[in-house]
Amino acid sequence: MFFLDSNAQDPLFRQLYHQIREHILLGTLPADSKLPSVRDLANNLAVSRNTVDGAYQELFAEGYIYSKPRSGYFVAFLDQGAAPRSLVPKSRSLGPAQQRAPIYRYDFHPARLDQASFPRRLWRKFFLECLRENPQQLSQYCDPQGDPGLRFSIQSYLERSRGVVCDPEQIVITAGLQHSLDIVANVLKRDHSSVVVEDPGYTLTSTVFRNHSFDIVPVPVRPDGIDLDILKAGNSTIAYVTPSHQLPLGYVMPVANRLLLIEWAEAGERFLLEDDYDSELRYSGKPIPSLQGLRPQGNIIYLGTFSKVLSPALRVSYLVLPRSLLASYRRLFQDYFSSVSQLEQRTLAKFMEQGHWDRHIRRMRGIYRKKHDAMLWAINEHFGGLASVVGQGAGLHVVVKLSGATCGEAEIISRAQQKGIFLFPFSWTCASGESADTRLMLGFGGMTATEIEAGIALLSQVCH
Ligand SMILES: Cc1ncc(COP(=O)(O)O)c(C=O)c1O
Repeated sequence: MFFLDSNAQDPLFRQLYHQIREHILLGTLPADSKLPSVRDLANNLAVSRNTVDGAYQELFAEGYIYSKPRSGYFVAFLDQGAAPRSLVPKSRSLGPAQQRAPIYRYDFHPARLDQASFPRRLWRKFFLECLRENPQQLSQYCDPQGDPGLRFSIQSYLERSRGVVCDPEQIVITAGLQHSLDIVANVLKRDHSSVVVEDPGYTLTSTVFRNHSFDIVPVPVRPDGIDLDILKAGNSTIAYVTPSHQLPLGYVMPVANRLLLIEWAEAGERFLLEDDYDSELRYSGKPIPSLQGLRPQGNIIYLGTFSKVLSPALRVSYLVLPRSLLASYRRLFQDYFSSVSQLEQRTLAKFMEQGHWDRHIRRMRGIYRKKHDAMLWAINEHFGGLASVVGQGAGLHVVVKLSGATCGEAEIISRAQQKGIFLFPFSWTCASGESADTRLMLGFGGMTATEIEAGIALLSQVCH
């Protein structure tokens, strides 16, 4: 898979030449394999034939490929020892996580963020300030629950924009949702053994709790949230929910059901895990207050993250523990240190303290609203009545239910891949691993409006 950037300084044919050469040197294009014809590759990449021809000519001239009359170009046999060091794979048996991810022209992954919007200048400024101002900080561990200033800023943000009522002492800074859930599982596992998760839902939650030997009980999601009758009929004493923007379907749980859910928790020694992962990104209607705010003294563990609006690469998230769990948490974790870099925590704290966080959210909401609207427009334009959109109006993705598709999810994903399109399988969010109907999860965060339009146009050809 090749990715050509028309805004880059390098001409397109050079970019293609470099990428093919790298595949040849890495062995992902093995000796004697046939390269696509100039016309096919030009069509696939939506570039001129001259671009592809130029790249092939250069590879040919340097001996990376050879030609056979009337058959096209083939990869030449190369002595790997002669390849530049940086390109030689260290081992042929790399595990899947270590293998290079292919580069897609249209990446519809639902967890991609806008590539140009990280506040680099301010981040660098505050980071350097942290280094300069307080050398003492670099010589010691920080508060095990996380930087107090950062927790204070998070508390004030949560109170004014999410209606969460808590004190900074209830907040723990974590290195991502998996870390938050690890803590929660450790705190709860003595008295609880089974967790309800949403189906479809975010699979990471099941994985973390399964790793702590909990039973996982998937409960179907309806347009008004998790099915409360099925929840009540079961024996689980913990429920993980995404009530303000259900992942993946985007449903919002109405307040009546939120109160019933809280009632369920209060009727026994039960706990609700409220994952409020992308509540900042709502494009229409009023923001939806948190579940925690409806019952601040209840057994609700609130989970938040900076991964959707700032950056998933930072690995800064947080949880708000109910007061009833603070003693157990401190007993279990008394010897632990904070797992998140103090420098990043202090940098983020400065960013928030100086008013940039709220501004940044407003800016990001504007950027993603435009992408979201471009996505809806493109779906309507290219799929028409053959697709119905679910979960629009918030977040970084929509779900599209296809009618009249000529093939199922696996086939669509594979055909899309051949066209340079990445699709995250909707079925991965289903407890059974299969979806009853053909749905596509279409993230728009990482693409420009132009790419969204072109990607959806191409995808519509793939699906029908
Ligand atoms: C439902 C849900 N919760 C939380 C997160 C964020 O997790 P983290 O804080 O580990 O980046 C994601 C990321 O995609 C998510 O989909």
